[in-house]
Amino acid sequence: MIERHFAAGPAALGDEHAVNAFLSLRSAIECGEVRAASPDAESTTGWRVNAWVKQGILLGFRLGSLVEMPPVGFSFVDKNTYPVRHFGPVDGVRVVPGGSSVRAGAYVARGVVCMPPMYINAGAYVDEGTMVDSHALVGSCAQIGKHVHLSAAAQIGGVLEPVNASPVVIEDDVLVGGNCGVYEGTIVRKGAVLAAGTILTRGTPVFDLVNGTVLRATEEMPLIIPEDAVVVPGSRAVTKGKGKEWGLSLYAPVIAKYRDDKTDLSTALEDLLR
Ligand SMILES: CC(C)(COP(=O)(O)OP(=O)(O)OC[C@H]1O[C@@H](n2cnc3c(N)ncnc32)[C@H](O)[C@@H]1OP(=O)(O)O)[C@@H](O)C(=O)NCCC(=O)NCCS
Repeated sequence: MIERHFAAGPAALGDEHAVNAFLSLRSAIECGEVRAASPDAESTTGWRVNAWVKQGILLGFRLGSLVEMPPVGFSFVDKNTYPVRHFGPVDGVRVVPGGSSVRAGAYVARGVVCMPPMYINAGAYVDEGTMVDSHALVGSCAQIGKHVHLSAAAQIGGVLEPVNASPVVIEDDVLVGGNCGVYEGTIVRKGAVLAAGTILTRGTPVFDLVNGTVLRATEEMPLIIPEDAVVVPGSRAVTKGKGKEWGLSLYAPVIAKYRDDKTDLSTALEDLLR
């Protein structure tokens, strides 16, 4: 149904069947029953893009009209030992409104912690026990595994268009350090660690010092960070032309090692915060 209403283009506007199909899809995503991408052992990347789900999310944008939204408060759930403080003008403290949002059509599993301000966009899937820290973004359709730590200001890019483009996938037990950026369908395999400030895109070569290889995206495959890799931000010398003459270097993420006991210690999470 979604594919049919999507293919109908502007003709779907005002069609109540199209709206109902979209609303069913939106609920199914929110329950985690359907996903924009799902694990698939038969696929070369280990992930299958469900293009029809992304079409459905786009359909929701086409069918929606602009309305003034009443100011509904986001619901808050936290330890009763740390209630919200109240300030008045007499306190002389500015409290800027706004904060975290989880958009309809995103799946957020039990045990996920959302630290303000963070944003989870439509079509995203965030699995159990994951921490989404302050200023982190989970872009549209991004797939985040179990017990992932998205540190402060980590940006996980979204992909709605083109509909067959793979979303960014962060698999179970990954630590994405502060200020990292993972974009353009990059897949970060289970247990990997991205040190603070690591940026990964389709165009970023990653230098694996352990195996002596350079990892790159290809026409068919996104950039894939291997299981348990510890990636740190580095740089490489420009070896020709003006870049060499001027002594420039380019940003180059480096796999400095694969996860060991020390990494487990460095990345251990504070259970009490959960
Ligand atoms: C990657 C990280 C987890 C350290 O892991 P680790 O397994 O203890 O790594 P090690 O200290 O053994 O370092 C391995 C190599 O990478 C280098 N390295 C480690 N962290 C690095 C970083 N952030 N940038 C550049 N190089 C780094 C080390 O110097 C070492 O190389 P060397 O042997 O040539 O000296 C840690 O640096 C990190 O970035 N943590 C995330 C912090 C963060 O963002 N917290 C979020 C709070 S909201």
